[in-house]
Amino acid sequence: MTKEVMVFHSEYHRYRDWKAALEAELTDLELIESRETIDPARVRYALVWSSPRDYLNQFANLQLIVNLGAGVDHIVDRVDLPNVRITRLSDPGMVGMMASYVTFSVLRYLRDIPDCEAQQKDHLWRFIHQRNAESYKVGLLGLGELGGSAALELARHGLDVRGWSRSAKTIPGITCSHGIDNLDPFLSELDALVLLLPLTDATRRIIDRRRLELLKPGTKIINPGRGALIDEAALIEALRSGQIGGATLDTVETEPLAADSPLWDMPNVLLTPHLASRPHPEKAARQIANNIRCVREGRPVHFEVDRVRGY
Ligand code: NDP
Ligand code: OXD
Repeated sequence: MTKEVMVFHSEYHRYRDWKAALEAELTDLELIESRETIDPARVRYALVWSSPRDYLNQFANLQLIVNLGAGVDHIVDRVDLPNVRITRLSDPGMVGMMASYVTFSVLRYLRDIPDCEAQQKDHLWRFIHQRNAESYKVGLLGLGELGGSAALELARHGLDVRGWSRSAKTIPGITCSHGIDNLDPFLSELDALVLLLPLTDATRRIIDRRRLELLKPGTKIINPGRGALIDEAALIEALRSGQIGGATLDTVETEPLAADSPLWDMPNVLLTPHLASRPHPEKAARQIANNIRCVREGRPVHFEVDRVRGY
């Protein structure tokens, strides 16, 4: 039997792990790396993160592009992609990793761990008055697959959790608001702000200089979303002045972070190199296989990207 082919391209993900996981899920599918030679007519699906320009156009029978991650900002506006459906990944492992990254970051601020670290450097043993979790207001921009579950995890720790999204939401235990008109009042009450929005035309630099000033002095920012959601130059100034008390940045405007960026040496900044959440091949393979079955049977796919909306 000639198997259907899915091509794979990524500089960041291990091909052999994805091949093993996907071929175990779908025994009639072959995953082939982009640098291997293949009859283009056999290619039905693509699993890619940043594929080379025009690479996917050579496959006349391509029916589905699977983005090897959750964020699609690098793919939605590409004009060289064939007009086929694009899906994004959302496996339970990714969701859990992001929830743990956000929870760790917020609790680190709630419990004044950066101050303890600074005291330790100075050999100081000085009690720091601790706040109640219920009085600590955390706001998440973005209540999707990742933001929604991170919000619930924070609420489980007893924090006062608020979320903001494009459309109205009801999530038990989370105070939800939506729409650009409600963003400024949402921001002004927070102790910590978490960004889990996709990067689109509507969200680029949504946290600009004016909105940084709207935040309460000393507010902490946690950004595992995308660096360009924030005006980085304005953030650096706000971190210097203390208007922003601290930032945990898993994403920055240009990655890797420039060698001369002041962010490297700021005492109130914690940098992590875009590792908050990664897809798990075994878990994601189930979702991908399910979508391939949907395509084969002419059913709608899950986690389809809306190219016009941008996510
Ligand atoms: P989803 O698409 O599931 O959710 C996006 C959320 O953002 C939704 O709640 C959506 O609102 C909201 N949103 C989108 N546009 C707007 C807008 N203009 N105004 C208000 N709200 C808006 O995404 P995920 O939760 O899966 O992922 C979020 C982002 O996290 C990704 O796009 C990616 O950039 C980043 N990411 C980072 C990783 C890392 O390791 N650092 C790993 C994976 C993802 P609504 O619900 O109304 O549609
Ligand atoms: C993603 C990411 O979007 O890694 O999956 O940021």
